[in-house]
This record gives sequence, structure tokens and C-alpha cells, in this order.
Amino acid sequence: MDGIVGMRRVASHCSLVDVDDLDLARLLDKPKLSIERQRSFDERSLSELTVNIRAVDVFESMYSPGGMRSGFNSPASSVRNSFEPHPMVAEAWEALRRSLVYFRSQPLGTIAAVDHASEEVLNYDQVFLRDFVPSALAFLMNGEPEIVKNFLLKTLLLQGWEKRIDRFKLGEGVMPASFKVLHDPLRKVDTVIADFGESAIGRVAPVDSGFWWIILLRAYTKSTGDLSLAETPECQKGMRLILSLCLSEGFDTFPTLLCADGCSMIDRRMGIYGYPIEIQALFFMALRCALAMLKHDAEGKEFIERIVKRLHALSFHMRNYFWLDFQQLNVIYRYKTEEYSHTAVNKFNVIPDSIPDWVFDFMPTRGGYFIGNVSPARMDFRWFALGNCVAILSSLATPEQSVAIMDLIEARWEELVGEMPLKIAYPAIEGHEWRIVTGCDPKNTRWSYHNGGSWPVLLWMLTAACIKTGRPQIARRAIELAETRLLKDGWPEYYDGKLGRYVGKQARKFQTWSIAGYLVAKMMLEDPSHLGMVSLEEDKAMKPLMKRSSSWTC
Ligand code: GLC
Repeated sequence: MDGIVGMRRVASHCSLVDVDDLDLARLLDKPKLSIERQRSFDERSLSELTVNIRAVDVFESMYSPGGMRSGFNSPASSVRNSFEPHPMVAEAWEALRRSLVYFRSQPLGTIAAVDHASEEVLNYDQVFLRDFVPSALAFLMNGEPEIVKNFLLKTLLLQGWEKRIDRFKLGEGVMPASFKVLHDPLRKVDTVIADFGESAIGRVAPVDSGFWWIILLRAYTKSTGDLSLAETPECQKGMRLILSLCLSEGFDTFPTLLCADGCSMIDRRMGIYGYPIEIQALFFMALRCALAMLKHDAEGKEFIERIVKRLHALSFHMRNYFWLDFQQLNVIYRYKTEEYSHTAVNKFNVIPDSIPDWVFDFMPTRGGYFIGNVSPARMDFRWFALGNCVAILSSLATPEQSVAIMDLIEARWEELVGEMPLKIAYPAIEGHEWRIVTGCDPKNTRWSYHNGGSWPVLLWMLTAACIKTGRPQIARRAIELAETRLLKDGWPEYYDGKLGRYVGKQARKFQTWSIAGYLVAKMMLEDPSHLGMVSLEEDKAMKPLMKRSSSWTC
């Protein structure tokens, strides 16, 4: 809590209440621009931009008024009629609405968990940016965009705060991990406090928050057809500030983004420092979303050019060096080490002895995935669900790689899905390795929490990936599994055990993103045209220069 107090002190000299007063109303009152545009955001593809690359196909049209129904033939109503609503759906909506947070009588977000039974609230009574994403998607899909707009604008104002940890000032573009609305019944004022990492366990800033913010802004735009929000000078500046944090030049030799441990959904030490797949996939997706939304004005143009160059380098790097399938594993297994110069095959000097035994059994003949991390002499071979699903949704994965990821999920169903979708990471680390990697974290013991625990929230991303790759039956199977337990168990945050059979040791109940994730999965399967909100088509200008891999060709 020290951090929050510190935060308020810093913010208060520019007057916390005043900052809130500036607020939503002013931004919301802006006259709406006409939403009739000849061109959509997604249509601006890389090919139009100044960087010299070959022409690409134009994307599917960005929006159709009334909620993006393009791309799928069946009208929403006929699809809908074929589904009997599951009794859990109504319960989920009620629970989701109970988690709503209001600021000056307007809905602003959803708190992480409404778990009255839990003795320790910690910070689960806050609105987390990443946790709000599935809630936001559920509201958008249900035709309730206002809360999403309020959230986007409020978090934008929070971004404007001066952020300090002790005497160190954080980058201007950093978005908070979470915020809390305080109601003062006597003075009748609502104020907001935010946590940019200065209160968080480990004091790590959330690198994913800004990316999710950009991704959500696009989802809002795509779902409502309202381009006016993204085009406000405030949103344009917000995007540019987030992007400046990750596009600045430094000592980097890779286009991937260097991160501290615990900077994303996995917000405790778990050995994901370096170039974690979750952040790289979100980075890629946020860059593509921003590219579609940035204006081609003087300031925007400069960023657009930097984004285009980065996307090319990033997709090349990820598709080549993070991708692992049977054939590539065999290549790494036979690597020579200490290769100097440009002709090196083993560019990062990975020592084959460092390949863990489990990968050899885990890797199916068909299938593949983006591994957890790649840096000099270090490959983290663990599977991370979020990064791989976002890689599919953002088209960071080529169509062939996307198919291979789905093949892997099917081939390793027991390991990756088990009895409750979906394992956040596989496999768990234990023993000596657990001691070293987690620093003996008692919450991240093997097959629990971030260390091989099963997180129902990931169901929405899996479902979206399944729909995108034309494999809805996989999603259906996963949803059916979730439906046998989730409501009965009180919507836990996560499950423990090799098969995800046990409600997590310290799992919150009525965890909002477990509830919203289920709803989003259901709605998307019922009306696949919702997929457009969270998915980007392949940009052929980014075709990789690759030749190998059985799972690509068969
Ligand atoms: C835990 C999770 C984090 C989530 C937060 C709120 O800290 O690790 O990803 O945002 O809880 O639910």
C-alpha cells in the first residue's frame, strides 16, 4: 500500500481530484464525427506506406454498421437459433454485472474478483487493465460499448499522471496495471488511484497494459464502427506515448522487446525475463492495431514508418527463431556451438545440452509452437498459451504455423487442456529449478497458479484462435469441459494439478475474467463474426523467407 500512498502524494500536487475532474465528461462530450468513411482502418495495410514493400491484398472490410458481420456467410440470427443458451450464461451475466465499478455514476470497469469469502482482498478489488479486456469484449458483443469507451478514456487520463517509484520517474507512456475508484460519501466525490507497478508485488511495471489498451481501442472501433474515439487527439497521443516506449532505439540487437520478469499476466517471478512470448505477441498485435488507427498527420506519420519497419523485423525474428516443431527441434539438437561470423547456423549459441528432456517427448510429429523465450545461449522451451493464441489472432503466426499450433493443442490435449482449459504454461518447473527460477515462490509451486496452473480466462483466446483457424470443434470441446465445473466451483481464478482438476490453492472465487472469458467464448462461437474484433488478417507483405518444417507443408 505504500506505493499507492506515494502515488497519491506525487499526483496530488497536480491535484488528484482535478485530474479526475478534467475527465471523462469533457472527452465524452466531443461531437462524434460521422462514422461513414470510405476507408476502414484495416484497409490501410503495410503496402500503402512509404516503406518499399510489395502490394498486399486488402483486408476484409473493417466494419459493417451494427457490428461487424462480414466474412461469415451465416446471418447471426440463424446461427443463434441453432443454440440453446446454456443456463450458465445468465448466471455469468449476473456475476459480471455485479463486478461493475462506477465513477460518478458511470460504469467504468470491472473489478478483478468479487470474492466476499476471501479473507485477503489484496488488490483484487481493483480494475486491472488486462482483466478488463474480456469484460469489455463481452459488453461490446452485447451491444453495450459505453463502459468500454469510459474505460479507454479514463485510463488515458491515468496515463497522463507523473509516475514515480521512489526517486525514479517512469516513462510517460506507461499505462497502469490497475486502478481503484474511491467513493467519499461525505464529500460526495469519486476519485481514482492507480498502480503503475509502484505497489505491485515485485514493483514491476505492466508492459502488457498499454498493448491491451491499443488492442481494445481497435476492438471498440471495429465493433461500433465509431472511428471518432480513436481519432481524438487524446487517443492518438496515448497511442504514440505507448509506442515511444517500445520503439525507441537503444542497445538492442533484436526487434523483440526486452522485459523484466513479472511484467505481464504472469506478474511474479517465473523466469520469463528477457523476450517473453506473451509480450512479443501482444507487442506485434498492438503495433498492427496502432498502424490501422494512427492518423497520417505529421506526428502519426513518423510512428507509422517506425511501426512498419519494426513489424517486418519482428515477424521475421519471431517466425524464424521462436518457432519450434519436430524438424526445428532436430536442427537445434544437432547444433554446433561457438560459431563465429555471419555464416553461423546457431546464431544465439544455444548449447544443445540445454534442451530439456521433456521437449523430445512433448513434440508431436505434426504441430509446433512459439517457444517461451529466445536470447543469447538461452531458449525457454516452455509452452505459453496466451502468447501462442495471440500469435494466431494477430497473424504473427503464418497460416501454416497457426494450423500447427492447433495441431499441437489437439495432439497434447491432456497436457495443455486436461480437465480444465487452459494451462497457462507447460510444463511446471519443480525442485531445484523451481527454487532458482521462482526464488522459492510458495504461490508458484508446481502445477499451480502461473507455474502450470489452468486459467479459465484463456478459454476466450483459445476459442478465438479455434474459430480463426477453422477448428471450432476444439473450442466446443474445451467449453464443454469448463461448463462441467466453472459455475459449480464459483468461477475460480485458476485450477491446480497436472490435469487442472483442483480449484487453485489460493484461487479467488468469482474471478471476473473467468466469468467474462466464458461469456466471450460462448458468444464468439455462437456468432463467429465477433472474431473480427480481436483478430487481424494475415498481411502478405510480411511473408517470411522460410523454407523448412514438416508441419508447415503437410
Ligand atoms: C494476478 C494475476 C494477474 C491478474 C491479477 C488480477 O495477479 O497474475 O494476471 O491481472 O491477478 O486478477
